Amino acid sequence: MAKDPVRVLVTGAAGQIGYALVPMIARGVMLGADQPVILHMLDIPPAAEALNGVKMELVDAAFPLLKGVVATTDAVEACTGVNVAVMVGGFPRKEGMERKDVMSKNVSIYKSQASALEKHAAPNCKVLVVANPANTNALILKEFAPSIPEKNITCLTRLDHNRALGQISERLSVQVSDVKNVIIWGNHSSSQYPDVNHATVTTPAGDKPVRELVADDAWLNSEFISTVQQRGAAIIKARKLSSALSAASSACDHIRDWVLGTPEGTFVSMGVYSDGSYNVPAGLIYSFPVTCKNGEWSIVQGLPIDEFSRKKLDLTAEELSEEKALAYSCLT
Ligand code: NAD
Ligand code: LMR
Repeated sequence: MAKDPVRVLVTGAAGQIGYALVPMIARGVMLGADQPVILHMLDIPPAAEALNGVKMELVDAAFPLLKGVVATTDAVEACTGVNVAVMVGGFPRKEGMERKDVMSKNVSIYKSQASALEKHAAPNCKVLVVANPANTNALILKEFAPSIPEKNITCLTRLDHNRALGQISERLSVQVSDVKNVIIWGNHSSSQYPDVNHATVTTPAGDKPVRELVADDAWLNSEFISTVQQRGAAIIKARKLSSALSAASSACDHIRDWVLGTPEGTFVSMGVYSDGSYNVPAGLIYSFPVTCKNGEWSIVQGLPIDEFSRKKLDLTAEELSEEKALAYSCLT
C-alpha cells in the first residue's frame, strides 16, 4: 500500500541551498524512494517571485513522489502540518556588520519561526537548523518552542562530518563509503573539533583504525583538523558563494539517518541538545556522535577522550556558551 505523504518544510527555499535541496527531497533522497512528500517552501516577500519560479521548476520536473507544493511568504501557512522542518532561511552577514548585528537579526527570525512551528507543525515534527549560526539559531528555536520536545530540535554538522570522511578517503585513496565513525564535536564553526580517534576504514582484512592507516599523527592533529574547520571558508573563496550542494546533500543525510536509522556499528555527527554527556555543559546545542533508531537519536556513550581532544571539546563549548550569551543579550 502506498505511504501517506510526509510534509517537509524548507525555509529560505528561494536561496542557493534551497534550490539544491528541494529536488533532492522530491526525488526521495531525504526520506526514501518509496516515501511521497509534500513540499512547503517559505521565503520572504522580496524573494516571492523567485520562490514561485522554484515551484514552477518542481512542477516541470514531474517528480513522481512529489504530491504537492506550498510556496508562500506566510510562516503560518508554511509551518502548518509539517512533519519535518529544514530551517535554511536566515540573514547573511553583510559588509560592515558586526557578529552581534547578524546574531540579532537571526535571533529574531528564529524566535518568531519557533512560535509558528510550535503552534502549527504536526506533533513530533523533527527540526533541522542549517542557517548560521546553526547551533545557536537551533537553541533559540528550542527556547521559544517549549512544547516541541528538545530531542526534536537539531542543527547541521553532518556537512562537517562528511567533509572529514572526504579528507580521510582522499588521503588514503580509499572509497569514502569505507570510512566511518569520524566525529565532529561542538560548534558548526572553525572552533569545531573533527576527531578521528574512533574512526575506521573497512578493508578486506576487517576494520582498521584511521590513525593506524594514516600513520601520520602530525597531519591528523593539525592539517586535517584545520582543513575540515576551514572548508566552508575555502568553498566561499573558490565559489564566491557558500557551499550549497554539499550542504543540501548533508541535510538529506542528517534527516534520513534520523528518521530511518543509522547502519549497525556506524555513528554520525548531529548538533543536539546537550545533556551533559562528555562533560559538555548541558543546555547548549552541541555536535556529538550519535546513533539513530526508531526515529530517535542517542549520544554514543563511553568513548575514551584523550587530553588533546578534551581541550578541543572544551574550547568549542566555550565558544558556544559565548554565542548563547550574545544571543540572549540580543533578546533583551
Ligand atoms: P542564501 O542567501 O542563498 O539563501 C537564504 C534564503 O533565506 C534567501 O532566499 C532569503 O530570502 C531567505 N530568508 C531570509 N530571511 C528569511 C526568513 N525570515 N524566513 C524565510 N526565509 C528567509 O543562503 P544559502 O547559501 O542558501 O545559505 C543559507 C544559510 O545556511 C546561511 O545562513 C549559511 O551560512 C548556512 N549554511 C550552513 C551550513 C551548515 O553546514 N550548517 C552550510 C552551508 C551554509
Ligand atoms: C559552510 O560550512 O560551508 C558554511 O557554514 C559556511 C558559511 O559561512 O556559510
